[in-house]
Amino acid sequence: MRIAIDGPAASGKSTVARLVAEKLDFVYIDTGAMYRALALKAKKAGISFSNADEMAELMSHTYFSLSDSGIILDGSPLGDEIRTREVSLLSSDIAKYSYVRDFLTEQQRTLSKQGNVVMEGRDIGTVVIPEAELKIFLTASAGERARRRVKQLKSSGVEATYDEILAEIERRDLNDSTRSVAPLKAASDAIILDTTGMSIEEVVSRIVSLAEKRQ
Ligand code: C5P
Repeated sequence: MRIAIDGPAASGKSTVARLVAEKLDFVYIDTGAMYRALALKAKKAGISFSNADEMAELMSHTYFSLSDSGIILDGSPLGDEIRTREVSLLSSDIAKYSYVRDFLTEQQRTLSKQGNVVMEGRDIGTVVIPEAELKIFLTASAGERARRRVKQLKSSGVEATYDEILAEIERRDLNDSTRSVAPLKAASDAIILDTTGMSIEEVVSRIVSLAEKRQ
């Protein structure tokens, strides 16, 4: 069984998807981490995302795989360096290039064949695995998402103001939903869950029970 979970930045997808995978004993695949990791790799190599030739060269020696602890890039697990605010914005910039999306979509399809999976991102139900047995689209108001993200950053020792984070989330929402290739949108057969005011546990148990009904 494949469960696709899509939604905007900071909608709680990662936390929810990881817990759903744990409860069902499915493999969890975070596709945002792949965009983040590729953006960081290109930046470190001094490559401009808009340079299709240099990006193609870089991607030709970029290998993603999975381990119990998550995504592996070129043989090494991804670290916290992909979670910075700078990399959040870079990943949303790199994600608009069709050559990047084609490359990562292909890699994600390969990873999705690992058995029972929960895959989360922006275009999983629409592009990566449109034949997924269960598709969820998680949303929450931008204000609620910004509040959650500030809290999460604080707990990991990063100070940020609500206004700054709200602006960054709105910028990523705009990038993600207006790009011409695979924009963020719910699949026509996705179940839309507005999580504003819902606890993580409530969201997880809703999805787990939907999955159990479809298994
Ligand atoms: O989910 P996360 O915030 O880690 O994703 C980082 C960025 O990667 C997003 O802002 C989005 O632009 C991009 N992304 C995407 N398609 C996916 C997953 C992530 O475009 N399937």
